[in-house]
Amino acid sequence: MIFEQVATGGCQSYLVGCADTLSAVLIDPEISQMDRYRGLANRDGLRIRYVIDTHTHADHFSAANELAEMLETPVVMHQSSPAPYATLRLDDDDMLLVGNLRIRALHTPGHTRDSMCLVVEDRVFTGDTLLIGGTGRTDLPTGDPEQLYDSLFGKLLRLDPATLVYPAHDYKGRSHSTIGAEIADNPRLQKRERADFVRMMRELNLAAPTHLTEALRTNMTGGKTVSQLLAAAAATVPFMALADLERRVAARPNDLLVLDVREEAAFKAGHIAGAMHLPRGQLELRVNEAIPDPTLRIVTCCEFGKISTLAAATLRELGFTRAVALDGGMKAWRDGGFPIEV
Ligand SMILES: [Fe+2]
Repeated sequence: MIFEQVATGGCQSYLVGCADTLSAVLIDPEISQMDRYRGLANRDGLRIRYVIDTHTHADHFSAANELAEMLETPVVMHQSSPAPYATLRLDDDDMLLVGNLRIRALHTPGHTRDSMCLVVEDRVFTGDTLLIGGTGRTDLPTGDPEQLYDSLFGKLLRLDPATLVYPAHDYKGRSHSTIGAEIADNPRLQKRERADFVRMMRELNLAAPTHLTEALRTNMTGGKTVSQLLAAAAATVPFMALADLERRVAARPNDLLVLDVREEAAFKAGHIAGAMHLPRGQLELRVNEAIPDPTLRIVTCCEFGKISTLAAATLRELGFTRAVALDGGMKAWRDGGFPIEV
């Protein structure tokens, strides 16, 4: 077996390949590591056959949809997953053949209704059903402590105690554990009576994960995250450094237009000398009258350098082929001590 574990913050993804055929699967990919997964697969000569999400993640952004499109593979999830992009849906005990590997799905609802664990040879990928020294929480959408109890004590913990446990999260830098070690030492698994376990899970009172709504929105629909949208725009425009813009503005050129796309109050409170004001929300509607010359060199600016990136991308699409965005926003401009006009 070829095996790579990729940790991103507390998230764990796994690339698992058949050493005989170089077929592979990617388990729980995270959006910021897309290049890394493909790089690892290329380095090891692997062909990724399936991209699998163990469940609908509420705490990080799944790369399954986008990677599967790039790699032309199915997205594998449990039958009950709400994700419309899940093209291959598994039932309990269904197996995927990946070269000579057999990957068996165990339906283990509880953390979410669509949670599954994946058994491959000597190990099990437990998603958020079982963590090292913990379990997934059951207080997020479709979570259910009664189901988690059944999934753990009735199913997962009945695997051979020597089975290696690879969870979807670990925040302490540990790579894996075993079923036997978890049964012995995992504090939550010491509550072996159903009522005790369920009461403990109900009383955990955990804070909501950061990005909860955005993660559920994108993971349940296949829609883009806000940072993906910004990154897509940033990939289509060049940027100008703050100091370069100061130097150019000071030289008073007549072919450079600084376009401030913030709202009026922000513009009036202080802007770059000679800047034209055209709020992002009115850009398309007013651009024809405001900027008749498409050959101008245009530098867009906003407060934090994000909306200006979208504005520059829109201008390029409209034919202003020399539009660039300021690298940083007016906040960075002010903090850098660059000159302001009111
Ligand atoms: Fe999760």
